[in-house]
Amino acid sequence: MNKDVSRRDFLRAGALTVLGTAGAVALAQRGKQAEAAPPAQEGHHGEEPYASHGMPDTVGEVDHERNGFHPTDILADFDYGKVSEENGQTVRAYDFVAVDKMIEVVPGIEFPAWTYNGRIPGPTIRCTEGDRIRINFTNGSTHPHTIHFHGIHTAQMDGVPGTGPGLIQPGQSFIYEFDAEPFGLHLYHCHAFPLARHIAKGLYGAFIIDPKEGRPPVDHEYVMVMNGIDIDFDDANDFYAVNAIPFHFQKHPIRFNAGEKVRIYLVNILEFDLINSFHLHANFFHYYPTGTSLTPSEYTDTIIQGQAQRGILEFSYKFPGLYMFHPHVTEFTELGWSGHFEVTEREV
Ligand code: CU
Ligand code: CU
Repeated sequence: MNKDVSRRDFLRAGALTVLGTAGAVALAQRGKQAEAAPPAQEGHHGEEPYASHGMPDTVGEVDHERNGFHPTDILADFDYGKVSEENGQTVRAYDFVAVDKMIEVVPGIEFPAWTYNGRIPGPTIRCTEGDRIRINFTNGSTHPHTIHFHGIHTAQMDGVPGTGPGLIQPGQSFIYEFDAEPFGLHLYHCHAFPLARHIAKGLYGAFIIDPKEGRPPVDHEYVMVMNGIDIDFDDANDFYAVNAIPFHFQKHPIRFNAGEKVRIYLVNILEFDLINSFHLHANFFHYYPTGTSLTPSEYTDTIIQGQAQRGILEFSYKFPGLYMFHPHVTEFTELGWSGHFEVTEREV
């Protein structure tokens, strides 16, 4: 069957007849938001979830508590590991556990995910170039997995089948260890086969290596990992998101003041679609591909990333207001990958 047909069939009819859940009802109401605003509900950090301005959306909110993670928190929960020093070198130790977990991705619809540490994306590893990174990986899942890091390291530590420890079997552990280089924005993901399935199920995360001299200070730093959700396992995405949950940043705008400097660490891990993109409304940003240079390559409002491409965006807003950000693959926008910056008056 044609993938596009199957995806649209799912959204039009499949959701209602097959799933028959609250989420399916919510999906059926997509596009009717102008008449029927979502019910007011207590949001994260006590904020009211946002009405959707006639944008496609889901009604209600997923249970973040039960999911065990919150996409808004993931924006800035940099994990510097357990820090020690060995022979003058900073060592950052992390415990990673692969866990099978049901995650509510849209209200009423759960996805049987595979996760690192019970969350999607996995922990955002953050370090400085030259640090020793030590990842104690335990496979608590029912399938063999690995952690494959982007970066420079030995074959032994590459986290692929057939090299070094190869696949880490359920119940087994392995310590991945290497020096962090080069500085930039990287990622990690499982490299067991079929690779697309292991990635699409949720085994990935961001990996930031700061330059020794640091980056210029900014007021806010946000991690955004762009992903897809293939609910019905037909190798086509039914939803798109940043930080796992579709429509999240539409309901919960990211708030900062006009004039404040913002840095976004943007990673594309999207499976099954060739490209993803990021478009900023009413503004332009400096773009640092892979974050491996301190000089931006572009001043633009839209960039494209293939899978595993990533880059750093820097900008500030001149005027207060509500501004969309979304991919300029506009179909993805209507299927969940869309959000707002709520820019408030500059504080004096
Ligand atoms: Cu895997
Ligand atoms: Cu990769």
